[in-house]
Amino acid sequence: MTATSFQSAEATADKDGLIHGVSAQELQILGEQCIEAKGKAYCPYSLFRVGASLLLNSTITPAPNHWSDTYPLSHVLTGANIENAAYPVGTCAERVAMGTAVHLGHRIGSFKAVGVSTDIEEFCSPCGMCRQYLREFLSLETPIFMFNREGKFIVRTMGELLPLSFGPDVLPPREQLRKAQEEDKAKTA
Ligand code: THU
Repeated sequence: MTATSFQSAEATADKDGLIHGVSAQELQILGEQCIEAKGKAYCPYSLFRVGASLLLNSTITPAPNHWSDTYPLSHVLTGANIENAAYPVGTCAERVAMGTAVHLGHRIGSFKAVGVSTDIEEFCSPCGMCRQYLREFLSLETPIFMFNREGKFIVRTMGELLPLSFGPDVLPPREQLRKAQEEDKAKTA
């Protein structure tokens, strides 16, 4: 396979050459891995292949579990879309990748960047369901790199893709909600 040189379609690198904290070398790995993952898509219905890659913060080691023995820990985890004859049952690449990572023990704080790759000219961004799924485990500052078929990319943060989002940090402690509901009930009794 000839190496793709990934080019930003927009000016985004800072004076140190980083894009949202991601180095050129990390970007190369992120891009290559989501393209490779795309090759493993199961999409006989749409023929629309999507690959996703998750760059892990090297300082984070997931909690060991039964998968750790089977799959060596690496700095990038991947996924591809997996369709189903019952169409709505199909799963997007981003959720396959993130589900794998979470099952391996990763949580919020584990992820440095996300890559998404397709076969089209346009920059394909994660669907609404995937944005919410990713939001559970990414910080709002995490960059999501969207690669087109030529290796050009645009990048947006999680917060930009899902503004005013609902996440685990928004949920108050259950006890607080229980108390508020009991107070409401007492008022109407
Ligand atoms: N798909 C993804 O995997 N990720 C996205 O963000 C958009 C859509 C998949 C779902 C389906 O298998 C195919 O692309 C066509 O919608």
